[in-house]
Amino acid sequence: MQYPVYRPRRLRQNENFRRLIRETQLRVDNLVMPFFVREGKGVKIPIPSMPGNFQFSVDNLLKEIKQVKDLGIPAILLFGIPRKKDELGSQAYAKDGIIQKAVSNIKEKVPDILVITDVCLCEYTAHGHCGVVKKTARGRSCASGFEIDNDATLELLANVSLSYAKAGADIVAPSAMMDGEVKAIRQALDNAGYPNTPIMAYSAKYASSFYGPFRQAAESPPQFGDRKSYQMDIANAKEALQEVNLDILEGADIIMVKPALAYLDIIRRVKEKFCLPLAAYNVSGEFSMVKACGKLGWIDEQKIILEILTSIKRAGADIIITYHAKEAAEMLE
Ligand code: PBG
Repeated sequence: MQYPVYRPRRLRQNENFRRLIRETQLRVDNLVMPFFVREGKGVKIPIPSMPGNFQFSVDNLLKEIKQVKDLGIPAILLFGIPRKKDELGSQAYAKDGIIQKAVSNIKEKVPDILVITDVCLCEYTAHGHCGVVKKTARGRSCASGFEIDNDATLELLANVSLSYAKAGADIVAPSAMMDGEVKAIRQALDNAGYPNTPIMAYSAKYASSFYGPFRQAAESPPQFGDRKSYQMDIANAKEALQEVNLDILEGADIIMVKPALAYLDIIRRVKEKFCLPLAAYNVSGEFSMVKACGKLGWIDEQKIILEILTSIKRAGADIIITYHAKEAAEMLE
């Protein structure tokens, strides 16, 4: 033969050989399953844009979480739909808020699963923004006539985090993309006697259209404007490294890139530069596209799910947050 030969070439047909040299192992241990929880009893409302996902009341959520635990999934991520919304998202930090109730119930009845709570205001504010909204003069620097008051929001996010920690959350996960939120939350937790509650920071969170189905699920679309003033420009990569770096300096314990599939390059770059555990969020739009195509019979849904999740892992994610967690766990069993 005239050219250098890669000998395993032939052996690739052999499953045992493939197993032997496989570089990436997708495991159930890597998966986090998100859930939406709301008030009431016996509630299980299907989310039309996210087949197989529901808004659960706490009683039904507990049943669901038992299943997730039995499948070997180590952690869940909770989003709340409050009974009422207001300007400052007060139900997010109310003692009897929906997440607070859900977490304390889970900790009592299904103690052996890690509970991560998303920390944001958008599901709780009447305007649907992730922070406090203040009016400004319309002008060249502000065409919309409103802006997000970053610093006023920090105190609220710190209150939310602390109240989740008090309810028993194992990890808090700020996703509002306010500058300084990790530091504000770390200080609040430390001062109140929760120095060991880790922060999983949505560090590089893009202003993505892939969140569309989620906003229906969480009833959280912004009522005016968009999130571009606080979430990242989809075209930027170096900025992601800067955002991650700042969050680490502020005290993040786990960093995150979101969305995942359209941002595998970002996952890879963050992984190469930083040493903290890295999470990637396989978001609602990525999930729903697979479900829609699967329903139409245009793709082999099961294989595509494992291919996507394996790719996210191969890119460098240690933790994958995904609505496919249950079905993936079943396939990986
Ligand atoms: C809250 C939040 C969002 C998502 C996770 N946390 C929505 C948003 O920023 O608009 C999106 C998750 C998904 O699409 O699956 N800020």
